[in-house]
Amino acid sequence: MKQQLETIREQAKEAIGRVSDAKVLEDLRVKYLGKKGELTAILKQMGRLSADERPVIGQLANEVRGDIEQAIAATNEKLKERMLEEKLKSETIDVTMPGRRTMVGKKHPLFQVLDEIEEIFLGMGFSIAEGPEVELDYYNFEALNIPKDHPARDTQDTFYIDDNVVLRTQTSPMQIRVMEKQAPPIRIISPGRVYRSDTVDATHSPVFHQIEGLVVDKGVTMADLKGTLEIFAKRLYGEDAQIRFRPHHFPFTEPSAEVDIMCFACHGEGCRLCKGEGWIEILGSGMVHPKVLSGCGIDPEEYSGFAFGLGLERIVMRRYNIQDLRLFFENDLRFLDQF
Ligand code: DAH
Repeated sequence: MKQQLETIREQAKEAIGRVSDAKVLEDLRVKYLGKKGELTAILKQMGRLSADERPVIGQLANEVRGDIEQAIAATNEKLKERMLEEKLKSETIDVTMPGRRTMVGKKHPLFQVLDEIEEIFLGMGFSIAEGPEVELDYYNFEALNIPKDHPARDTQDTFYIDDNVVLRTQTSPMQIRVMEKQAPPIRIISPGRVYRSDTVDATHSPVFHQIEGLVVDKGVTMADLKGTLEIFAKRLYGEDAQIRFRPHHFPFTEPSAEVDIMCFACHGEGCRLCKGEGWIEILGSGMVHPKVLSGCGIDPEEYSGFAFGLGLERIVMRRYNIQDLRLFFENDLRFLDQF
């Protein structure tokens, strides 16, 4: 029996020493120390021993059990260490590895330039007024001195919700809305989306953007209009920018003018960008018509004002020499990423 115990001790220690897997270790524990294990089997035969032998074998059996338990504990420790090492290795972070790039969006070129324009006018003491895109016929046409039979309605055909409600064709109705609400002095710009039933091509879109300007106060003259727009042009296009006023007609201003900027490609010589003109039209403007003022309850004898309206797409196209307006609306990142 002593021999058997020694054999178990040797075999168990040897087997446990070689284990590299927790499951196998547990199996071995059961095999040697479990209720139906080898050691227990031997201990069950202790009854057959003499009274002299029993304590000797008993002590040996305890020793063997202790040794096996110790061997198991040692291997267990080893396995745990190895597992920790492997875990650490697999979770190592390589701080030199390139990161995953996050795509950051940015403003549409139209709105980048709109921001600049707003800054320029805010700097001159203007504030910003915004109004509805679905507009009453009254504000979009009637109050701007464009009655039902006026030819200007032909060039500004639009989408009618019903006889009295339209998608606005211009930001000019904001002149009326502001003057109805606010007593002079008035100094506002009003940017926004406008609509016309135009067919899409390189220079036309049924949806585009305008920026309206309106100043009403005592003693406002054409000189104020010229000075304001000159400063605006220089801020937007650079100090050497030059503008000229060309007589024109708008129903809601009198006198009216279109404003051209000297072509920045050829400096007035005439080239492809300005179609040989040397000048490029950037906006419409004029002195607010007395009829429009009095229609809003402002006495034209006491107050005068100027107004202007510019097309945002046009300004941005000229700024970046973009030949096709459709690029603004197609959302092609290869285009948009360039700004
Ligand atoms: N609303 C005009 C258009 O869309 C542009 C315009 C011209 C606006 C003269 C004005 C102005 O305020 O005074 O063609």
